[in-house]
Amino acid sequence: MGTDYDTLSKQIECIIDEEPFYVSAMANISELLWETLPDLNWAGFYIVRDGRLSLGPFQGKVACIHIDRGKGVCGTSWSSDETCVVGNVHEFPGHIACDSASNSEIVIPVHCNGTVAGVLDLDSPLFSRFSPDDRKGLEMIVKLTEEKITW
Ligand code: SME
Repeated sequence: MGTDYDTLSKQIECIIDEEPFYVSAMANISELLWETLPDLNWAGFYIVRDGRLSLGPFQGKVACIHIDRGKGVCGTSWSSDETCVVGNVHEFPGHIACDSASNSEIVIPVHCNGTVAGVLDLDSPLFSRFSPDDRKGLEMIVKLTEEKITW
């Protein structure tokens, strides 16, 4: 059975309603995704700052701190303003390997005032971990986050 994204989004709504400040909200959202979705080895956010992505709240191993626009899966999702679902990261040109355990990845842009202000990044040790249902559910969670957080 897949993840119950309706329940997860209700939990995330409660978390953000309690404190919409983006650092606090993203910290607990990362943790909830980490705890709820099986087979992850990294879950967290990168934030657009001074023209590049900087590491935001996350769960998992120590990760690279800066990612340039258009670089790696995160920088590609930012520059294309599209969700990137990568079934095999080793075949993605320019993939940035923060954790050698990662085999698949999903990155979803997070908007503020119509432009990309950050990305949500999830990594898995399984190949093709993220299904179309995961994409839909995670995009719903990012939309909720965009609507409710304060930057
Ligand atoms: N793999 C990402 C880098 C961030 S880590 O996965 C946490 C990328 O290629 O952008």
